[in-house]
Amino acid sequence: MRKICVINQKGGVGKTTTVVNLAYGIAASGKKVLVIDLDAQGNVSTCLGTRSEHDIYEVLVDNLNPTACIKTVSKNLDLISSKETLTKAEMILVGEHNREMVLRRKLAPISGYDFVILDCPPSLGLLNQNAMLYADEIFIPASTDELGLVGMRNMTEAISTLNNVFGHNLKVTKIVPTLYDARNKVCKNALAQLKKDFPQTVTNPIHVSSKLKEAPKYGKPIFLYDKSGRASKDYQQLVDIVLGKELKLETEPVPIAMVTSST
Ligand SMILES: Nc1ncnc2c1ncn2[C@@H]1O[C@H](COP(=O)(O)OP(=O)(O)O)[C@@H](O)[C@H]1O
Ligand SMILES: [Mg+2]
Repeated sequence: MRKICVINQKGGVGKTTTVVNLAYGIAASGKKVLVIDLDAQGNVSTCLGTRSEHDIYEVLVDNLNPTACIKTVSKNLDLISSKETLTKAEMILVGEHNREMVLRRKLAPISGYDFVILDCPPSLGLLNQNAMLYADEIFIPASTDELGLVGMRNMTEAISTLNNVFGHNLKVTKIVPTLYDARNKVCKNALAQLKKDFPQTVTNPIHVSSKLKEAPKYGKPIFLYDKSGRASKDYQQLVDIVLGKELKLETEPVPIAMVTSST
């Protein structure tokens, strides 16, 4: 079970958009996915057009078993929603014993998924520390601009501090450049810088797309809202990278017949 938190302390960089479309795309490929919304804005539910009856606040504060909160959204895709009450959870968590590990403890009954993906609020506060200590991997959507680059440096420092303090081994496995406009010099430079700073982890960029902005209004992931558009292609490519498909293609041995015919 891959446990991935999607975090950036900056808001509006495409975290929720990435969670929703990545999760839907992975589920469509046949893997079983659970999305957990940890942001009190509850945007995941808006984007997917449905919400779970019980939410993550009830797991964190009221001790509800997380398996009782799961709502099936579509084939292979399950959801635990959040709502505005979650803002209170952080204050309540402060008083808990081992307050950074509450989520890890309470999500222990979750099993049987290929992926658990957490959509996180724009902060590095206690809730996100809980998310990072539950997860093994972190994906960071980064806007392709100057402020996005500064934010990335802060994020990587915060993660190494967290790993040191808690003896954790959270790895940044994907950095997803977002809001990319290929005609814009700032975007091009920022993407080049990200690739230079994090050559192993930067994925394909997600282009600026009005369809991605519109889709939440209809409660649909991009694959249902605009199946053949640019944004669907971008997110499908990201899905393939996360599933390791590109890697497989690169390492696949060349058939002997092809080698001989080309020599
Ligand atoms: N690639 C994109 N192109 C255009 N608009 C986008 C793109 N990604 C996200 N958005 C829009 O930008 C806003 C913020 O995105 P969101 O995913 O909610 O960011 P975050 O979760 O980081 O706050 C939303 O209105 C969303 O629809
Ligand atoms: Mg969000």
